Amino acid sequence: MDILSQLSQIEADALRRLAAVERREELDAVRVEFLGRKEGRLTAVLRGMGGLSAEERPLVGKRANEVRERVEAALEARRALVEAAEEARTLEAERLDVTLPGRAPRIGRKHPLSRVLDEVLSIFTGLGFDVFDGPEVETFTYNFAALNYPEDHPAMDEQDSFYLTDDTLLRTHTTAIQVRILQERTPPVRCIYYGRVHRREQVDLRHSHTFHQVDGLLVGEGVTFADLKGTLDAFFKELFGPTTAMRFRADFFPFTEPSADFSFTCFQCHGSGCRLCSNSGWIEFGGSGMVHPNILRGVGLDPEKYTGWAFGFGVDRVAMFRYGIPYIRLLMENDMRFLTGV
Ligand code: DAH
Repeated sequence: MDILSQLSQIEADALRRLAAVERREELDAVRVEFLGRKEGRLTAVLRGMGGLSAEERPLVGKRANEVRERVEAALEARRALVEAAEEARTLEAERLDVTLPGRAPRIGRKHPLSRVLDEVLSIFTGLGFDVFDGPEVETFTYNFAALNYPEDHPAMDEQDSFYLTDDTLLRTHTTAIQVRILQERTPPVRCIYYGRVHRREQVDLRHSHTFHQVDGLLVGEGVTFADLKGTLDAFFKELFGPTTAMRFRADFFPFTEPSADFSFTCFQCHGSGCRLCSNSGWIEFGGSGMVHPNILRGVGLDPEKYTGWAFGFGVDRVAMFRYGIPYIRLLMENDMRFLTGV
């Protein structure tokens, strides 16, 4: 085959090969095969130009340039096509249906216990009380002994408490924090403290081994039971509305003398009696009383000079009443079906 025919053959082969190229990498392979400076087919043919006559040489040179330019043009044209096709494939693969409905973000909300606690704390801090904290794993001393429990008090029986060692237990009431406060602060003391407490209770709709309490303590000179009543009354009116009334009934706690439990008028029937308050018109709320002189003495305060009162109540019960929650355990299970409904 003469050299011009060889050039035409190269051109035809290159164009045919290019027409079939689908991917960018193949384009480079074709370029190297036909136009490559060292091993390309065009270079190989041009190496034979040495044997040509002076007339033939410019003709062949011109034709060789033409072939190079045509193959290069075809390469570029094919490159544009291949790239466009590749881009179209990518777009197709990553296609988004913007008409699909989106996923609505889940809006969080405060747990009902936190809502009640926030309210209670804000009322008492508004009355000038400081928030105090204490450990959930408590010593026998703070939970019982320092609170003037007699040695044989049934609440100290193992049945009622979760002991971790002989001397440590999960606190059974937030009253355990009271002596910690009195050791750390000097009167006048006004504190509100709260948290999780644990008892070995028979679990039923209203009772759980884990629940939450709030306690309050006020110690100073000339503090009386009337101040306790005034404070609790203001608290209930703030929490359940201005028509709410409260009452005390004599009770017993080792750490207060005298002691009283306290109730408030049912916020559903306002005292006339309904299912919520078992037809009594009152809902029992918690315990309270004047801080026992033994406790004051125990922390080095003279009971002749200082007096104080304290109270405590369950938070879960308030949340259950307020939000109509039928089982106490719902408050601890973190079941989203429940939490998104209250
Ligand atoms: N700790 C008591 C209980 O769990 C409630 C209580 C009664 C707390 C009288 C007090 C108080 O601070 O003074 O039943």
